[in-house]
Amino acid sequence: MRDSSDSFAERLIRWQDRHGRHDLPWQRTRDAYRIWLSEIMLQQTQVATVIPYYQRFLQRFPDVAALAAAPVGAVLEAWAGLGYYARARNLHRCAQAVVAEHAGQFPRDPLQLAELPGIGRSTAAAIAAFAYGARAAILDGNVKRVLARCFGVEGFPGSAPVERVLWQLAESLLPPARIEAYTQGLMDLGATVCTRANPSCGACPLQAVCVAHRDGRQAELPAARPARTLPEREARVLVLTDGRRVLLERRPPVGIWGGLLALPELDGEDPGEFVRRRGFRLLEARELPALRHAFSHFRLTLRPWLCRVEAAAAQAGEPGWEWLALAGIDSAALPAPILRILRRAG
Ligand code: ADE
Ligand code: SF4
Repeated sequence: MRDSSDSFAERLIRWQDRHGRHDLPWQRTRDAYRIWLSEIMLQQTQVATVIPYYQRFLQRFPDVAALAAAPVGAVLEAWAGLGYYARARNLHRCAQAVVAEHAGQFPRDPLQLAELPGIGRSTAAAIAAFAYGARAAILDGNVKRVLARCFGVEGFPGSAPVERVLWQLAESLLPPARIEAYTQGLMDLGATVCTRANPSCGACPLQAVCVAHRDGRQAELPAARPARTLPEREARVLVLTDGRRVLLERRPPVGIWGGLLALPELDGEDPGEFVRRRGFRLLEARELPALRHAFSHFRLTLRPWLCRVEAAAAQAGEPGWEWLALAGIDSAALPAPILRILRRAG
């Protein structure tokens, strides 16, 4: 029956008829209000969680006029537990806009739907397809994954250029008829077969035409979000030692390494000057190899300066300075990069 000349849409619709979901509470209705409500609830919440909320919500607010007329507190109360409360506020605002601007009827045109609060391009297409049979393409996270795998679309699907390619692809794949089955099939396939981890390719109607399956690249497609490039910072630090002990400084309680002992930072000052001005007799000053360390919000290059001083003078200092025996550095609670510098300098 199936051969590789069957279109993407034909495969998907046939699969949906046999294996897709048909008895979800928002299926088998053409009521745009009920469909809209389900799509908003399903934006960031799983089907199984949504179902009881959906049914209770409809009992309380049976149509768009009832929802628009309700106080926002009542809407938030019925929503409580679904999370993302901005969705509930937008839901209420959207109902009011439909009543005030569209005579209580959700528009049929996906472009007009997408202008309402809380309705993006993909949700608008889903509502238009399910409620009015409009030939409009959806592209949520699940659909992006199915298309990126099936057609071998490279790049991170959240980036604007890749998203543009995916939207064009999604539009080009739309069937001439049965848009509801096709749209639900795409959603159901992404949710149950072409899952993020370990997709069930053996049960997939797209297997014979899927690039990721052909090339064994299911784990690589779609591409992950590229790592952020972090801002770069530099700090010169002082490794002041009398041969037996090293000077450390307690960090302020907030900020990096808050409250921990670390090497004193040299602002713009010459290391030799810095040491002499604090009463030490300097024997040697030289720069050690730099060390890079990644924090969550920036990368730090530490440029350590080793300054050897005479032991006799090593009583001097400043508040917050502490001497640590070099023999004890491994058991002190030092930040890892500081410990690495001290071991190298050892
Ligand atoms: N997720 C978003 N829309 C959905 C729908 N109509 N059915 C199942 N899951 C969905
Ligand atoms: Fe996804 Fe596998 Fe189907 Fe390709 S064959 S669309 S990777 S489930």
